[in-house]
Amino acid sequence: MIIEKRGRFAWLTLADGRQLAVGALRPNIIQVRDGGDLPHSYATVPVAAEDFALTIDETAAGMRLATAAVVVTVDEAGHVDAFYPDGTAMVQDFRGTRTPLVRDTDPQIASAENLDASAVAMQDHSLTDVPGVAPLEIVKTLRPDEHLYGLGDHAGFLDKRGYAWENWNTDEGRPHQEDLARLYKSIPFVIGLTQGRAYGLFVDNTYPTRFDLGKESADYYYIDAAGGKLNYYLFAGPAMTDVAEAYTTLTGTTPLPQKWTLGYQQSRFSYASEKVVRDLAAKMRALNIPCDAIHLDIDYMDGFRVFTADPKRFPQMKGMIADLKQAGIKVVTIIDPGVKVDKQYAIYEDGLVKHVFATNPDGTPYVNTVWPGKAVYPDFGNPAVRTWWGQNQQFLTDLGVAGVWNDMNEPAGFDGPIPDDTVFSDNGQPSTALAMHNVFGQNMAHATYDGLQKLTGKRPFVISRAVYAGAQRYTTVWTGDNRSTWAHLRLALPQLCSLGLSGIPFAGTDIGGFTSDTTAELVTRWLEAALFSPLLRNHSTARSRLQEPWAFGEPTLTIYRKFVELRYHLLDLLYDLFALQPSLPIMRPLVLHYQDDARVQTLNDEYLVGDSLLVAPVVEQGATQRLVYLPAGDWIDFWTGKTIAGAQSIVVDAPLDHLPLFVKAGSLLPWRPLTQSVDVATETTLTFRCYGQAGAYTHYQDDGEDFAYQDGAYNLYEVRFDGDQASVALTRQGYPHPYQTITVETAGQDHVFYYVPEARAYRE
Ligand code: GLC
Repeated sequence: MIIEKRGRFAWLTLADGRQLAVGALRPNIIQVRDGGDLPHSYATVPVAAEDFALTIDETAAGMRLATAAVVVTVDEAGHVDAFYPDGTAMVQDFRGTRTPLVRDTDPQIASAENLDASAVAMQDHSLTDVPGVAPLEIVKTLRPDEHLYGLGDHAGFLDKRGYAWENWNTDEGRPHQEDLARLYKSIPFVIGLTQGRAYGLFVDNTYPTRFDLGKESADYYYIDAAGGKLNYYLFAGPAMTDVAEAYTTLTGTTPLPQKWTLGYQQSRFSYASEKVVRDLAAKMRALNIPCDAIHLDIDYMDGFRVFTADPKRFPQMKGMIADLKQAGIKVVTIIDPGVKVDKQYAIYEDGLVKHVFATNPDGTPYVNTVWPGKAVYPDFGNPAVRTWWGQNQQFLTDLGVAGVWNDMNEPAGFDGPIPDDTVFSDNGQPSTALAMHNVFGQNMAHATYDGLQKLTGKRPFVISRAVYAGAQRYTTVWTGDNRSTWAHLRLALPQLCSLGLSGIPFAGTDIGGFTSDTTAELVTRWLEAALFSPLLRNHSTARSRLQEPWAFGEPTLTIYRKFVELRYHLLDLLYDLFALQPSLPIMRPLVLHYQDDARVQTLNDEYLVGDSLLVAPVVEQGATQRLVYLPAGDWIDFWTGKTIAGAQSIVVDAPLDHLPLFVKAGSLLPWRPLTQSVDVATETTLTFRCYGQAGAYTHYQDDGEDFAYQDGAYNLYEVRFDGDQASVALTRQGYPHPYQTITVETAGQDHVFYYVPEARAYRE
């Protein structure tokens, strides 16, 4: 083996002439890559240079690279193995050949009975069949006890082991369930947990990839790609939180959102006239359902032409938006990528002149059918097209629209898949749909984010259905078209937790379910279950049963209000997590903090908010009790104040109006006064509730809106309690409006602290 050292990388020439490079970006971030040029990465951000110790040595077997966190060896045959510094294996290349899955299917009988083959085989983009591209394969050993997490929104359970998953962004109309290989997003990242230690593996490849995670064999898992170059990263634990932090060091963290985006949002396909929207807002206020946004689905547009408004249904849209704003309700509008083919339509004509649309190989614009009928697709891999799309957001921002919801950006096409050889740009250079499909949605969201930022100066609020790894830098996401079924309510929790583990904490699910008809019980349980998902939106499809908070009368309305109010009381907990722990999820599967506990490694129906609040919703029809597993430590029942020892399961009564919540002893929760929407300018007081004997909490405060915090315009508060004693310190002041009073509720008493401006401090 020829080894050439370049900085923190070893460039290797293997016995068969192949070139491979292995290096470290951080002590626990290892890159394994092809020795040739790599394509542009849509996932990664530059990792700031840091000094750390690293050795690269030639050994009898090949090469050995070591940092304080990991040792990587490469042998003459190119096998890459990673070890912890104590010599224990972390993840190793599998030696031997794969044993293809044995299938015994009779295609004729299968089709006669209408058995869906997608559950058992790739339908298209077979990873070995793409002409002209050498398939790429990574095969790693799988340990008997190994659990595998991550992979974005893929359906099924938290533990992805035992299934084969594909990354090919797909508008999936069939019910989402664990035998569905594809969904809307492509996040080729898994976290392995074995023998109490975690590591991560991220394959930065935008082509269709397949992650067979122990379905074919219990001895290995494999990842193959239909194209691209070998390029993957290993993240060394041993803590799963280390892996999550390392992954977001490489792919970026979620920028701080506008605070109101954490409020309740009401949507439907579609609230289709000004009167309907005004009535909806008025009803929210009349019935005291806190609400920060109403979403307008495609029917607000003029014939589904993007960046237009229907002059008949929304003749005074600007005025309507301004009036709603007065009531504290913002308007978010949907925008799809498909631009209607219409000679009379300015966006289409302008786009044609500027050559912004993807083309057939012969250079003519590629046309498919989406909501507006025949439509063309902006070539978002071209930075100039992103700028053009960003500028077009001005139509919306001029109306006062506060957020943009990007849909159908897999991209979807009603005429069938976009041919693989359709010409899309890759960072400005001609490429193909095959290579760029999986980043189409991401690039659309990126364009929207940049456009909104330039136009408004505010933190952009973008929601996207299709994304690739690293999307958290630009957009929040939702889990697409779920159904109003209990199975989909159960699915929502592992989906949201998996998105969090995949670097995307700002996610939500259509509360109540999108298609089919919900029930009073289901929509109630759904709100309870998703109550701490950062994106809290009730959304449903056309012609389905109405599911607004009042749709089922009482007692649904009262219960619904109670929980939306609880969300508002605890909203600062979410905002603090975004501000102070940006590299970790908000909704966390228990395994993230209790990885040694076998009881939580496959737990699908509980989650933590941060590390202090445990949520155990009822997700079974008719259930009024449930088993709740509390991990090690003492937990305090949020509703009764009773302390319960952890490391055990308990039976909890949970009638329809009860959401089992437990607070870890030693924690504080920020508790806001109830408001009907988020209005930072009126936030002059805050309460902290103390749980257990002693604890501390850091609270973050800023204007909740723009980027001034990046120049230091924020405050930090350190709140402590010990028994009956409490203290509040303003440890940093950069935002000019500190709270006038802060209350700390300890077990026995309320401590009220007043701000003393001259001292920039709080006195009891
Ligand atoms: C897609 C979206 C859904 C939206 C509908 C109409 O199905 O996933 O949320 O309501 O399109 O725009």
